[in-house]
Amino acid sequence: MPLVKMSSLLKKAREGGYAVGSFSVSNMEMVLGVLKAVEETKSPAILQIAEVRLNHSPLEIIGPLMVAAAKNCSMPVAVHFDHGKTTEKIKQALDIGFTSVMLDGSHLPFEENAKITAETKLLAQKYDADCEGEIGCVGGSEDGSEDIAINCTSPAQALEFYEKTGVDALAVAIGNAHGNYKQAPKLRFDILEETAKLVEVPLVLHGGTGILPEDFRKCIKLGINKINIATATFDSVENSVRTAYGNGTIKGYYDLQTAEVEGAYNNAMKHIEIFGCSMKG
Ligand code: 13P
Repeated sequence: MPLVKMSSLLKKAREGGYAVGSFSVSNMEMVLGVLKAVEETKSPAILQIAEVRLNHSPLEIIGPLMVAAAKNCSMPVAVHFDHGKTTEKIKQALDIGFTSVMLDGSHLPFEENAKITAETKLLAQKYDADCEGEIGCVGGSEDGSEDIAINCTSPAQALEFYEKTGVDALAVAIGNAHGNYKQAPKLRFDILEETAKLVEVPLVLHGGTGILPEDFRKCIKLGINKINIATATFDSVENSVRTAYGNGTIKGYYDLQTAEVEGAYNNAMKHIEIFGCSMKG
């Protein structure tokens, strides 16, 4: 199965009542770990990287790797550019072959967010790629470097935003935030339910790390079809390496690499099961 568009995965997820995991990756080991889980569970998936991560993983190197890995996978995999900050980087991602992009204007006034998102949608269309937008504001920045306050989505504004932009996936803010929560968040299921009733587009839940399995399942029932997971992957890889050093499993470089792949694999396996997308690839 080749690299696919995100919208084709999310359309099926909407019809089938499940969510597709969108896993942030920053190196080859994470890509390999996620796709090992995808192959084993026969599930669809999205590989993503956010613009704030590019200092550590340059787009011109990690991007082609992500696209090649998706093309090499026997399950359908989309490659997404997450929380784009500049049109220049979004264009670069599209040139590399990403099948979906997001320009994050959620911190801007409504009209400005709608305008730049609509422009990004037109740009993505030229590449036959998809576009995600965000309305309301998910807490924190993708890499935890900024303390952004949560601003819950207004369902009526979400509809207006969708009508003005035509996005293929819409990220909502319902009390979710990026990074590790101090305690599991109290999500505004009422806002999610109302938004899903009004807006005919797959909805996206950012800030997946630390959300309780029962809350994930409830979100999926109410209309979430894409769930972003970043911090949990990084933590799982780090813990896997730490444990392997602790129990003496790492005797050389390739044992270290194996531990990294395993960390990403374990985290993806756990979320694929919760999201209900096993055997949906
Ligand atoms: P977490 O780091 O909380 O999993 O959030 C990931 C995310 O939403 C990426 O867009």
